[in-house]
Amino acid sequence: MSPFLLTRTLPEDATDAALRADVLHGLTHTPKTLPPKWFYDAHGSELFDQITELPEYYPTRAEREILIARAPEIAATTGARTLVELGSGSSEKTRHLLDALPGLHTYVPVDVSESALTQAGQALIAEHPGLGVHALIADFTGGLALPGTPGPRLVAFLGGTIGNLLPAERETFLASVRALLSPGDSLLLGTDLVKDESVLVAAYDDAAGVTAEFNKNVLHVVNRELGADFDPDAFAHVALWDDAHEWIEMRLRSLTDQTVKIPALDLAVEFADGEELRTEISAKFRENGVRGELATVGFELTHWWTDQEGRFALSLSTAGTSR
Ligand code: SAH
Ligand code: TRP
Repeated sequence: MSPFLLTRTLPEDATDAALRADVLHGLTHTPKTLPPKWFYDAHGSELFDQITELPEYYPTRAEREILIARAPEIAATTGARTLVELGSGSSEKTRHLLDALPGLHTYVPVDVSESALTQAGQALIAEHPGLGVHALIADFTGGLALPGTPGPRLVAFLGGTIGNLLPAERETFLASVRALLSPGDSLLLGTDLVKDESVLVAAYDDAAGVTAEFNKNVLHVVNRELGADFDPDAFAHVALWDDAHEWIEMRLRSLTDQTVKIPALDLAVEFADGEELRTEISAKFRENGVRGELATVGFELTHWWTDQEGRFALSLSTAGTSR
C-alpha cells in the first residue's frame, strides 16, 4: 500500500447533516447543549494543541510520562501489528508508542478533524519510513469499520477523551470497540483521575484564556457552517466541578438576554441573561470504576499505570473470549 492513505468514512454532506441535527436538537432542549466533537475544526484542533502545553493542563504531560515509561512493556505485552488510535489529534504522544513497537505494520489514526489527520500523517511517514499510515476521517462513536490490516490489534484511546462521553454513551462506545476486536487484541485507555477540585478547575479554566477561546470556538463553527449570528463575546466561559458525577462541566453563559438566528435551520434561539449552554463534560475516574466499565463489555484490565504524582492513569486491557 502507499505509505499514507486518508479515507473519509462519511461523505461531507453527512457531516453537515449531523451538525444540523445536533444543533437543532441541542439548542431546542432545556438545558441547552452542544456535543463536543464540533469544537475540532482546524482552528479548534490548533487551540487544543495549545491547551496541551498550558501550565495548568497537566493531563498531557502526565500521560506522556506514563507512555515513555511503559511503552516497552506495552509493546511486549500486546505484540501489536496494527495500532488504531481513536481521537488521535496531533498524534504527538503516540510517537513514543510507535517508536517502541518494532513489528508494527500499520498505524490507523481516527479523528473527525481532517486537518489534524493530514498534518500528523505527513509528519509520521517522514519519521517512520516503512510504516503504513491509514488515516480515517470518522466519528468514533458511530459504527467504525477498520481496514483489514494484520493483528494483533491495539486500540489506543488517549488524552482522557473517554471522559467526554456521558456514562451511558461510554458503555455503548466501549462495547462497539470490543466488537471491533478479536480475543487477544488490546485496548490502551487514558483516563484522568479524581483529584483536588482546584487543580481540576484550573486545568479547564486557564489564566491565559486559551480554554475559554477553545470553548467559544464551537460558536464560530456554528456561525460559519450554519450561517448563525452568535456573538462569542456575549458569552462567558464556565468550568465547574460536579462532585456528584465526578466530572468537570464546561458551559457558555449568556451575558445578556439575546436571540441568536440560525438561518440554515430556520431557527431563532432565545438565551436569557445568565442562561448556560453545556458544551462538554470531562469525567474523572477511579481504578475500580474503569475496571468495572471495561469488564461490563468484555475487556479484562491487566495493567494500571499512573504518573509519579498519581494524577492520570493509563490502563491496558485484553479483549476476552466471552462477553
Ligand atoms: N489524543 C490527543 C487528542 C485529544 S483531543 C491527545 O491525547 O492529546 C480529542 C480528539 O478527539 C480531537 O482530535 C478531536 O478532533 C477528536 N474527536 C472528538 N470527538 C470525536 C469523535 N466523535 N470522533 C472522532 N474523533 C473525535
Ligand atoms: N479530552 C480533553 C479533556 O477532557 C478535552 C478538553 C481539554 C477540553 N480541555 C478542554 C474540551 C476544554 C473542552 C474544553 O481533558
